[in-house]
Amino acid sequence: MQLNEVVVIDAVRTPFGRSGEKGIFWKTRGEDLAVPLLKALIERNPPLKPHMIEDSIWGVTNQVKELASTLGRMITMLADWGWEIPGCSIDRMCASGLTAIGFGATYIASGMADCIIAGGVEHLGHVPMGFMRDHHPRAVEVMGDPSALVMGQTAENIHDRFPEFTREKADTYAMESQKKAHSAITSGKMKDMIIPIEAELADGSRIMADMDQQPRPGTTMEALAGLKPVFRENGRVTAGNSSGLNDGACAALLMSRQKADEMGLKPAMRWVASAAAAVDPRIMGIAPVPATEKALQKTGLKMADIDIVEINEAFAVQVLYCLDRLGLEWNDPRVNPWGGALAYGHPLAASGPRLTAFLCGLFKENPAAKYGLTTMCVGRGQGYSIIWENLAGH
Ligand SMILES: CC(C)(COP(=O)(O)OP(=O)(O)OC[C@H]1O[C@@H](n2cnc3c(N)ncnc32)[C@H](O)[C@@H]1OP(=O)(O)O)[C@@H](O)C(=O)NCCC(=O)NCCS
Repeated sequence: MQLNEVVVIDAVRTPFGRSGEKGIFWKTRGEDLAVPLLKALIERNPPLKPHMIEDSIWGVTNQVKELASTLGRMITMLADWGWEIPGCSIDRMCASGLTAIGFGATYIASGMADCIIAGGVEHLGHVPMGFMRDHHPRAVEVMGDPSALVMGQTAENIHDRFPEFTREKADTYAMESQKKAHSAITSGKMKDMIIPIEAELADGSRIMADMDQQPRPGTTMEALAGLKPVFRENGRVTAGNSSGLNDGACAALLMSRQKADEMGLKPAMRWVASAAAAVDPRIMGIAPVPATEKALQKTGLKMADIDIVEINEAFAVQVLYCLDRLGLEWNDPRVNPWGGALAYGHPLAASGPRLTAFLCGLFKENPAAKYGLTTMCVGRGQGYSIIWENLAGH
């Protein structure tokens, strides 16, 4: 079957806040993180108009409270775009937003649409992980044991099964992520993708939030080594080598190449292939490996062809495992050159689109890079990967 070419024109995000009362978005609703991104994508890409958006597909992990009500649809009306723009919400836990982009791409590739906004939003301060979840009585039995339900424990399980990935290596990786993020932030790499959000803080003061709240640039190996394990007594997973609990949103504008050309919009990158894969839920963090292998197989490409890897850092240990099994060194310069979720935080469904936004930016500043990968692990034992081709500068 002949597929239409699909391109990403633009990707924007909110700054990522820390969840809870000290967070910059404590008093901001989840929908109000997504709406400014819809508006920004239109404003930044004339002659695009809201009525040209054929669907608004949003990843949302826990679709309750303010994140319920088919958020993808509601936000098109909250953006004052009238009643004409359809939308939906989908859930593949942490990869909800990346799946929204992958599904959006295949939707366009099949010829069923020309212009879609796909994104992800999470507000773990208002809708905490697991909130209002009612597990099936057989959930633990079918997943192996209760640790499959607690992501930090799945990371401990990876340490158990693959002891070559030690706490020290995990801390070293986390430290490096913080360093790379600090360097990217201070050299202005986030400026183009972050849409400032006016927010009221817990004390009633108002700010224009335009910077990520989670990064800890002062991180030292000594401080990391001193942190207590959080998920198991005598464990290895700490607040320093885990991603955080965060609030944020990120969205991408996807179009058919033909429509983009007709409208004179310059594409950043071309969708090549997407794949989901599933593994033992007790070690869910390893799943980017089979998902990536599956995506590569569909294209005939090899890992050696991939010039930039954006892998979500849910936990340092799972990234170490994945890089090793994909044949990459832990500090390969192609991997997360601007740092990852260990530094920026992980507002679950927003993280896949964030990887996409980072890859757009990285492609732009590396015109010689041809192929890139966005990949992430998912609770309950899944992985999702998308391969992209650089069109910036081509
Ligand atoms: C690990 C976890 C429980 C920690 O929660 P927390 O205690 O609220 O985390 P914090 O960021 O407040 O860190 C706690 C303390 O650790 C220390 N700390 C954290 N990161 C640090 C770093 N890089 N360097 C030095 N100290 C650090 C600090 O003392 C911090 O306290 P402070 O903010 O008052 O200075 C939480 O982030 C979590 O659940 N993460 C996993 C999320 C998850 O499962 N996502 C899905 C993945 S599939």
